[in-house]
Amino acid sequence: MTMKFSKILLGAVALALPFAAAMADNAGPQTGTLPTAQSTSGATVYANLCQACHMEDARGAVGAAAIPPLAGNKHLAAHAYPIFVVLYGRGAMPALGGILSDDQIAGVLNYVRQNFGNHFAGPVSPTEVKAARIPGKLYAGGF
Ligand code: HEC
Repeated sequence: MTMKFSKILLGAVALALPFAAAMADNAGPQTGTLPTAQSTSGATVYANLCQACHMEDARGAVGAAAIPPLAGNKHLAAHAYPIFVVLYGRGAMPALGGILSDDQIAGVLNYVRQNFGNHFAGPVSPTEVKAARIPGKLYAGGF
């Protein structure tokens, strides 16, 4: 019981940090996507959001939760799996489908699939991301 609560609390703190950082320097209109990550540049989305957990070098970390490396990660080879993880979360990975657009998700996945020692052919398209969104399913997974 206590263990479970502290795990949820730590997860919530880890979740809040990148969002707070991304909100801080925004003065523009709210569009439902992360303000400073409105750029569809994969590098920008990675730096603003993913990097807080997966680290600058994408080697992951072990802390409140074990954060897997995205560097040299064969799980990025297929399109469906990483799209689904980013949309709906998994374990301590928050669901980001409610704050990132299809273009942003495709952009950041292509960025990690072509950097950090990854060279996966066949770019992920925004259309694939759109098709993976399940009508009516909330972007509330991850914990
Ligand atoms: C709050 C911390 C956090 C943030 C922010 C975050 N992740 Fe994750 N991510 C995780 C954790 C923890 C896991 C492991 C989940 C599990 O399998 O239990 C994970 C897993 C993944 C996986 C699956 C890896 C594998 O080998 O199965 C991918 C792909 C991924 N994240 C991509 C991203 C991308 C892209 C972003 C930015 C858009 C991002 N993550 C942002 C914490 C985070």
